[in-house]
Amino acid sequence: MDKPGFPSFPPDFVWGVSTASYQIEGAVKEGGRGPSSWDAFVAEPGRIANGDTGEVACDHYHRYPEDIGLMKELGVDAYRFSFSWSRIQPDGSGAVNADGLAFYDRLVDGLLDAGITPSPTLFHWDTPLELEQAGGWLNRDTARRFADYAEIVGGHFADRIPRWITINEPVVLTMLGYGAGIHAPGLSLGFDALPAAHHLLLGHGLGVQALRAVGASTIGIANNHAATWPASEHEEDLQAASLYDNIANWIFADPILTGSYPEELAPFLPPVPDSDLAIISTPIDWYGINSYNPALVGAPTAGEAALVDGHELDASLPFSLREIEGYPRTDFDWPVVPEALTELLVGFKERYGEKLPPIYITENGAAINVGPDADGRVRDQRRIDYTDSHLHALKAAMDAGVDVRGYFHWSLLDNFEWAAGYSQRFGLVHIDYATAKRTPKDSYFWYQELIKANKGPLQQ
Ligand code: FCB
Repeated sequence: MDKPGFPSFPPDFVWGVSTASYQIEGAVKEGGRGPSSWDAFVAEPGRIANGDTGEVACDHYHRYPEDIGLMKELGVDAYRFSFSWSRIQPDGSGAVNADGLAFYDRLVDGLLDAGITPSPTLFHWDTPLELEQAGGWLNRDTARRFADYAEIVGGHFADRIPRWITINEPVVLTMLGYGAGIHAPGLSLGFDALPAAHHLLLGHGLGVQALRAVGASTIGIANNHAATWPASEHEEDLQAASLYDNIANWIFADPILTGSYPEELAPFLPPVPDSDLAIISTPIDWYGINSYNPALVGAPTAGEAALVDGHELDASLPFSLREIEGYPRTDFDWPVVPEALTELLVGFKERYGEKLPPIYITENGAAINVGPDADGRVRDQRRIDYTDSHLHALKAAMDAGVDVRGYFHWSLLDNFEWAAGYSQRFGLVHIDYATAKRTPKDSYFWYQELIKANKGPLQQ
């Protein structure tokens, strides 16, 4: 039964929440875990706001039973977490760490007992340090190592995990990690970062094949996408926006869904053998989209560096990111533009037609940095407003014929927000980082009601 005010979705629509290993687990030196690119990056002075690290994070490694309880109470159907590669293969290749697998056994079994479908990502940016030191994703060999790892995890869990994601947001790792030096491994290669994009895509394709070979099924990817708006109708702005759109969106979707790279990018890419494209376009069962806000892009502005989350981008880039005015903003200063989600999804359907598999929204959410009031309650109404408006926008895309099967909110918990450390709070559940105390926020209870309202009387 629909409740007034809640957007209404089909009864089999999947409701979920998302997290990622380095952002929540902590216990970086426990259980035989090897170091990752992020452990090394956070140790470099000045990289992370307030010098924060993921060493303890939400202490989920020890508190996962409580977190499963919170999800059960919330009523979600599915949980998107990520495996830490270096917990399972401490060196990124070779020997498997039985204690690492055992941690995820406990987590997966606990989820299944709670009636929650594990929907994990194999890799959410925490490259094993030994592989990073050998070139990381700039090195083609990392794609092969990823396939070996996919085979290990798939082989171990295929009988218990019914939905899989290979890689999270290759665009952000490529651009912010190898291109702009804002994320691990902290390289500022500009366009020379693009081989990392190709190797991540190759890793994805090899990973799909490796998972299937060991009996895993229902496999997708979680790609970050943003509707791209040109700053004006002037030719130079249109061209800059189109280049950005290709680099931020289509370079990561076209090869998977059509088997080729956007033509406009040919001058920037090394020659790519057809055999690689055949691997990358190995059919997937569904396509995951992480989306937060659109991008406004224009020609470079003389000498002025654009900012991403407060970090300066190289002023010599052939495009510039502009401020989107006239919309509310989250506390991370991201614009809140729900209609851009409808535009993005409808654009996907127009671009790929029959080649587009069913879509899941694998991330969407907002940083609203409020804590408990004196009465202990966390009043994060702006997160509710953000989520409500984006779900209405998602429903509008479905009404326009886009096949969307589920929504995973980012995030279950406040967590380590990469370069911003603990300063940005995306959780439905508040974390007191001094004590690890969990406090469900107003948005948690709203999401719980929304899910109930959408389950219909039979399922309740
Ligand atoms: C995405 C990341 C996720 C989280 C959100 C806010 O780009 O995949 O880990 O940091 O942004």
